[in-house]
Amino acid sequence: MEQTDRFAQIKERQKRIEENLSQINHKIAVLSGKGGVGKTTVAVNLAVALAEEGFEVGLADLDIHGPDVARMLGLMDEPVMQDGLILPLTYLTNLKVLSMAMLLEDGQPVVWRGPLKHTVIQQFLGDTNWGKLDFLIFDMPPGTGDEALSLFQLVKLDGTVIVTTPQRVAVDDVERAINFVNEMGQKVLGFVTNMAYLICPNCGTKIKPFGEGVVNELMQRTGVNCLGEVPMDPVVAQYSDVGKPVVSFLRGSEAEKSFRKIVGNILREVGE
Ligand SMILES: Nc1ncnc2c1ncn2[C@@H]1O[C@H](COP(=O)(O)OP(=O)(O)OP(=O)(O)O)[C@@H](O)[C@H]1O
Ligand SMILES: [Mg+2]
Repeated sequence: MEQTDRFAQIKERQKRIEENLSQINHKIAVLSGKGGVGKTTVAVNLAVALAEEGFEVGLADLDIHGPDVARMLGLMDEPVMQDGLILPLTYLTNLKVLSMAMLLEDGQPVVWRGPLKHTVIQQFLGDTNWGKLDFLIFDMPPGTGDEALSLFQLVKLDGTVIVTTPQRVAVDDVERAINFVNEMGQKVLGFVTNMAYLICPNCGTKIKPFGEGVVNELMQRTGVNCLGEVPMDPVVAQYSDVGKPVVSFLRGSEAEKSFRKIVGNILREVGE
């Protein structure tokens, strides 16, 4: 391909990304320092809760190597193309969802280096028919790798929500994630403490298996606010596995209430 053609193609793609993103009011990424702390669980329940409140919502799964959003919402169909754009799958009529898992055969691994991942993220942003949205939520892979770098370069976010568990090892990595977000010129909306406590099913006592001191220390050291805590509840994991987000399928539970509180705090942070 001629170099001038390639430049024209890059410009065209940038224009499409800008046009697409200009139709989206709030953009929020869910990030963590460490893996397995509950980012996808938080991102999915946040997106569903916002959709239930009547907002037009999109959920983009940017965890290219371990895309879990589709399973947690029970959406495994292959998206179709329309007028050259990918049509995300729909959940609850007003939640549009796109994940690599929908584009891959079951169990097929993705073995890509940074530049290819950057191209896919550009396609998720510019070649996808998100339409007009109040919120686009990005579920990120753990840590501060290629995907977060690409997203932060391509999109000015309202901010990031950083998920952690209250353990020393997780909290250490949160500080790294907060510094990374700041260095990239993006904002931290706050952090969510997942698996903060569990309620004994026999006596109702609140147990804090990971302690709590480190989270207070983190708030003091970084000045970042806690948006809320989510209890550890085996049902959260069981329901996630079968595509039932607890905000809608476990109404009245501590987990549901805590997600709604976090959503309320996020809405306040973004001025809604
Ligand atoms: N509050 C909770 N109570 C019980 N189980 C939970 C809770 N939050 C998350 N889980 C479970 O823990 C596991 C990890 O959660 P999740 O996939 O959301 O983490 P993640 O940070 O997105 O992981 P990864 O870094 O692999 O993307 C899942 O099986 C999930 O169902
Ligand atoms: Mg995840």
